[in-house]
Amino acid sequence: MHPVLVTGATGRVGREVVTQLLTAGVPVRALTRRPDAAGLPAAVEVVAGDLTVPESLDAALRGAGAVFLVWTAPPATAPAVVERLASHARRVVFLSSPHRTPHPFFQQPNPMAVLHADIERLIAAGGLASTIIRPGMFASNVQFWWGQMIRNGDVVRWPYGAAETAPIDERDIAAVAARVLYADGHAGRDYVLTGPESLSQAEQVSIIGAAIGRRIRFEELSPEVFRRETADGWPAPVVDMLLAAWGATIGRPAFVTCTVSDVVGSPARTFRQWATDHADAFAKTGRVPESDETE
Ligand SMILES: NC(=O)c1ccc[n+]([C@@H]2O[C@H](COP(=O)([O-])OP(=O)(O)OC[C@H]3O[C@@H](n4cnc5c(N)ncnc54)[C@H](OP(=O)(O)O)[C@@H]3O)[C@@H](O)[C@H]2O)c1
Repeated sequence: MHPVLVTGATGRVGREVVTQLLTAGVPVRALTRRPDAAGLPAAVEVVAGDLTVPESLDAALRGAGAVFLVWTAPPATAPAVVERLASHARRVVFLSSPHRTPHPFFQQPNPMAVLHADIERLIAAGGLASTIIRPGMFASNVQFWWGQMIRNGDVVRWPYGAAETAPIDERDIAAVAARVLYADGHAGRDYVLTGPESLSQAEQVSIIGAAIGRRIRFEELSPEVFRRETADGWPAPVVDMLLAAWGATIGRPAFVTCTVSDVVGSPARTFRQWATDHADAFAKTGRVPESDETE
């Protein structure tokens, strides 16, 4: 069996894809810029490569069957990378976003969505058999956003408490990705993935509170104050993108699909489940997970 090449293998989704492919008995080759720091299971063939240096991918692509493509690099080398993928691999599963979904949350200006759309066009033009997976808001975003506030106190100060999203557990994104990487019948498909329920941001905060056994208050911030308070640490385009998306969705439930269940045969995990499984990340005495620092 040809190995599956997993890019982004040390990231939130890719690491889970590696685990789930191994569990399914699929040989895995993992791409990382720093093999020594990858911390992947021993059964994984870890290969050095950098998406910004297309020729560095040749060793990783040699003999690969399918590729899981995660793009967090600058866009310049995407055409050369996709061309290399097309000349080595039989198929690609690309981690994109729901930018084609006609819900206001997904239709706001979003540089990442533009990049995703560009890469999808390159994949289509390269003639690669492909499956596009389009998760909405990752559940673990809130670990990065609110982890420190909840570890340090009992209040989350945040804008648009009433904005509803349907956070998806990264393990469910990975379950779909792994399935479509090793099972037949998914080429040419396009899957929008969400969590199972629409929850306001304020509700998500209280669900985390329930998971850690503390009452966490939501304090509404105006977009202007949020912008000012994140000015030092957050890239302005990310802040703009989030504020526009939350603002546009006020008064509407989040877009919810049952695609996780359709593809893998079991329902998507609830946010409550995610919060329970990640309670340590929010507990006052909890370990500070690495992803809090790297998102
Ligand atoms: N957050 C959300 O709500 C959301 C929603 C929809 C879609 N997405 C998309 O999901 C993707 C991010 O997935 P994630 O959160 O799992 O990633 P992540 O945790 O941010 O990890 C980034 C991964 O990319 C790898 N990487 C970064 N630069 C690289 C380069 N130049 N060459 C090779 N590998 C490189 C890193 O590997 P090494 O450091 O080991 O090299 C790491 O494994 C993005 O495309 C994002 O737009 C996110």
